[in-house]
Amino acid sequence: MSDTTALNKTYFNKLGSDYDEKFREALTMLEEELRRHKDFIAMRPGGRVLDYACGTGLLTNALSDQASECIGVDVSETMIERYNAKSSPETLVVLSPRLTSIQGPKRKAYLGNLISKDEEPAALFSGGEFSGFDFAGVGMGFHHFDDPALAATRLAERLAPGGVLFIVDFEPHDGPGHGHGGASGVKHHGFTEEGVRGIFEAAGAGGEFGFKRLERPLVFRGAREGGEDMVRKVFFARGSKL
Ligand SMILES: C[S@@+](CC[C@H](N)C(=O)[O-])C[C@H]1O[C@@H](n2cnc3c(N)ncnc32)[C@H](O)[C@@H]1O
Repeated sequence: MSDTTALNKTYFNKLGSDYDEKFREALTMLEEELRRHKDFIAMRPGGRVLDYACGTGLLTNALSDQASECIGVDVSETMIERYNAKSSPETLVVLSPRLTSIQGPKRKAYLGNLISKDEEPAALFSGGEFSGFDFAGVGMGFHHFDDPALAATRLAERLAPGGVLFIVDFEPHDGPGHGHGGASGVKHHGFTEEGVRGIFEAAGAGGEFGFKRLERPLVFRGAREGGEDMVRKVFFARGSKL
């Protein structure tokens, strides 16, 4: 495991149980924007979703009512536990009154790393259940990865032809600024449109590339070292596998 991945695992294992409560405002805003941008994302209705670096399930929650199945993968045990706790039929009905246990998609998260430079993913991930996705997305994870281009390539390999590669991340900004600073495994201080386009194209998922800057800034309450708010500009990027 790389140093960055180990830092991420440790950091998010500590933060995981408070993540939703701590960042409720930011997560609610993003979920609203993701739902509003359904046409921009353009996933096949009833498609299968890979929510990579899923955390507690932001992308899964936003896409649930368009998907038949959502699979999360993350390196943090605590995040996986939270995702799966939120996926029990009883919890889903409370969280998302439009869904019932029968109508809602299957959703389950697994511990793993599909984007390591040095190690193959665990044998579990070579099964058919982990390929042929209609959507493979990363919510606020790209800035935590050692090699975002490799991540995009590995995720695009798991898409069906025409499937959508998607990320939500930060526009370029100065310095980490996170309360989680260097200990969090933050590797990149935002991404430019051209940079992301190049990454998607090199991954073979540059078809109908779209880049959307959100007007509303994202506010992480109290996330800076001194307890101040952290404010970030955010973009959505999507491309289809060619
Ligand atoms: C900022 S959180 C985002 C969580 C969720 N996607 C969201 O949008 O709320 C970043 C997540 O990336 C995960 N992560 C970091 N590096 C990873 C890697 N190499 N593979 C899988 N997950 C990773 C962390 O454990 C954490 O859950």
